[in-house]
Amino acid sequence: MDDVIKLLESARNDIAKADNLQQLESLRVALLGKKGSLTDAMKSLAGLSDTNRKEKGQQLNLVKQEITDLLTKRKVLLEQVELNHRLKAEKIDVTLPSLAWQIGRLHPITQTIDELTAIFGQMGFSVAEGPEIEDDFHNFTALNIPPSHPARQMHDTFYLHPQQETPQEGNNAPPVLRTHTSPVQIRALKSLPKPVAVIAPGRTYRSDYDQTHTPMFHQVEGIWIDRQTHMGHLKGCLIDFVHAFFENESIPVRFRANHFPFTEPSAELDIGYGIIDGMIRIGEGDKWLEILGCGMVHPNVLQACDTDPDSYQGFAFGIGIERLAMLKYGIPDLRTFFQCDLRWMRHYGFLPYDTASSIRGLGL
Ligand code: DAH
Repeated sequence: MDDVIKLLESARNDIAKADNLQQLESLRVALLGKKGSLTDAMKSLAGLSDTNRKEKGQQLNLVKQEITDLLTKRKVLLEQVELNHRLKAEKIDVTLPSLAWQIGRLHPITQTIDELTAIFGQMGFSVAEGPEIEDDFHNFTALNIPPSHPARQMHDTFYLHPQQETPQEGNNAPPVLRTHTSPVQIRALKSLPKPVAVIAPGRTYRSDYDQTHTPMFHQVEGIWIDRQTHMGHLKGCLIDFVHAFFENESIPVRFRANHFPFTEPSAELDIGYGIIDGMIRIGEGDKWLEILGCGMVHPNVLQACDTDPDSYQGFAFGIGIERLAMLKYGIPDLRTFFQCDLRWMRHYGFLPYDTASSIRGLGL
């Protein structure tokens, strides 16, 4: 009798102490397995007298029942402990930054647009957007480029099929893929209260393809209209922009008279550069490179936007974004921007954490 009580007591003890599922399973085998101690005790019943066998048999059955219950309960508990442990260990902290070499990059165009937006934003411009499929009125006519104006030929326009359902404003010319971001000027001037100060970065399209032209490229348009805005504001704004963008206050800048139908007077802005050891060096040497077009908004454009040119005036500019990115980041071929080559992206792309800002720096 004693040995059964001893067996039960030590089993209770061992089960209570088992602190993992593996230990518990070994214990189960040692007690209830084929060669387990309780199994052995059961087997030994065969050698007992009838009365003894009955009594001991009943006792052993009770002990077996208790041990089985204890094992089951302990198992449920240990499984729960193990699960909690795993849940804790395998918890994913979604706020942790991922590993730098595993994450995607920002395309240099995205980075450059972020930088432009940071600079012009600080000057007081807000960002406007317009459609990439544009009507003739916004892309040409309202910008003082009437039908048959020679400037239309220079734009290598992609014309789309005429849309019967949406008649064009002013004439029934087919819609186009916008050839510049200037139509957003028109949309902003027509829809926003004055004074207006917006930039409009975005995609533009022209039918052209070589080392310096792709059929899709990016521009940023800027417009500032108020009652007394003048050429001095235009120059100050763009000179400050060039210095902030290239992070170099001493880059020489010059304005060269030019012609655009939508501005009068019009100019192009050149920055000074030189070729040193076969590389373009901005701000050094004696060469000039055109980076943007600008001018005072033509009265005809203001009128087309229901704005009285005797009360309001201002400046506009248009900048090619790829060219800026190529110059700042030393990217030699425009076509590679759109070839979706991952090696190129890893080399020229930017980590998403390096958000451009005029306070903590632009393209770090
Ligand atoms: N729209 C011109 C182009 O695509 C760029 C431009 C020049 C925009 C002068 C302007 C501007 O707003 O004033 O070539």
